[in-house]
Amino acid sequence: MTTILVTGGDGYIGSHCTIALMNEGYDVVVFDNHSTGFKSTGEALKDVKSEGRLLDNIEGDLLHPEDIDGAFREHHIDAVIHFAAFSQVAESMSDPGKYYMNNVAGTMGLLDSMRRNDVRRIVFSSTAATYGEPKYVPIDESHPQWPINPYGRTKLDIEYMMDDYDRAYGIKSVRLRYFNVAGADSEGRVGECHDPETHLIPNILKSTFRDGIEFKMFGTDYNTRDGTCVRDYVNVEDLADAHILALRYLENGGKTDYFNLGTNEGSTVKEVFAACEKVTGMRIPIKIEGRRPGDPATLVADNKKAREILGWEPKRSLEDSIRTAYAWERKKRGLTSSP
Ligand code: UFG
Repeated sequence: MTTILVTGGDGYIGSHCTIALMNEGYDVVVFDNHSTGFKSTGEALKDVKSEGRLLDNIEGDLLHPEDIDGAFREHHIDAVIHFAAFSQVAESMSDPGKYYMNNVAGTMGLLDSMRRNDVRRIVFSSTAATYGEPKYVPIDESHPQWPINPYGRTKLDIEYMMDDYDRAYGIKSVRLRYFNVAGADSEGRVGECHDPETHLIPNILKSTFRDGIEFKMFGTDYNTRDGTCVRDYVNVEDLADAHILALRYLENGGKTDYFNLGTNEGSTVKEVFAACEKVTGMRIPIKIEGRRPGDPATLVADNKKAREILGWEPKRSLEDSIRTAYAWERKKRGLTSSP
């Protein structure tokens, strides 16, 4: 049995990936400091029928070498998938120290522990935020990486660090640059739980509930087809599949590399809003606001490289993502029957 250490395995994307790994027959050790996320992958995965097992759910911090060394000592780990990070762009601007410490120093702690414990393969969650303001769209992997906020810079620093750790210590990495991740587990076991929630789809869906406030649409005067920002929404279960493929790529002796994960297609904020009204069958209260600082008009991925080298094919639609995200929002409120 192959065992994978998943850092941040209790977070939004990490928990979906943990399920995908177990479904593919991998054993998983989750390592999470539980500072964000929803602290219950173990609980959520109790009833998952899969070939792989959740061997352990360790509460630990990558900044504490004894925590992460302990995880490697206790389990024979074959490879690591590294999600643990802070990811709020606005917070990274007001408190960059928190981001450099947790994301950059934390990853260094992880890589050094991998060296000490002779683990040489890692899949890392990078981001489209490493590209900054697009010079052209769709964005391919050779697009310049000039991030415009500390969050993006921490992820880019880690990408460079991973190149250096490959050259010097032979740690092979795959960096997956996510575009806009959306949706939830199709069986409703895990989903998105950010606090504060800044992402578009959960914020629109929240406004369908009695306790919700009206949805605030940021900026309708962009140079796009309807004046609102265009983003490339990739389904979280499709994203999890890409991590399995990246792991197999490394298992088969693949070299250190990086790939965009997106769909090649963009949707405007107005189109996403209309799709949410369609899926929920509700008129959602809305308020038009000014632009949110730092939002580029258009971000769309060119995903050719991931298709060609990893064999990845995103399968789920934007409506699939909205449907599962809505079911998850209802479940969080104890509304289990279908809408
Ligand atoms: N938006 C609204 N109202 C909201 C939330 C978002 O109108 O309540 C708009 C935003 O202004 C933007 C679009 O919806 O035009 C998408 O916003 P998100 O916050 O959902 O996503 P971002 O594109 O800002 O962020 C994503 C990732 C980040 C990453 C960033 C890189 O979620 O992790 O891309 O640019 F850093």
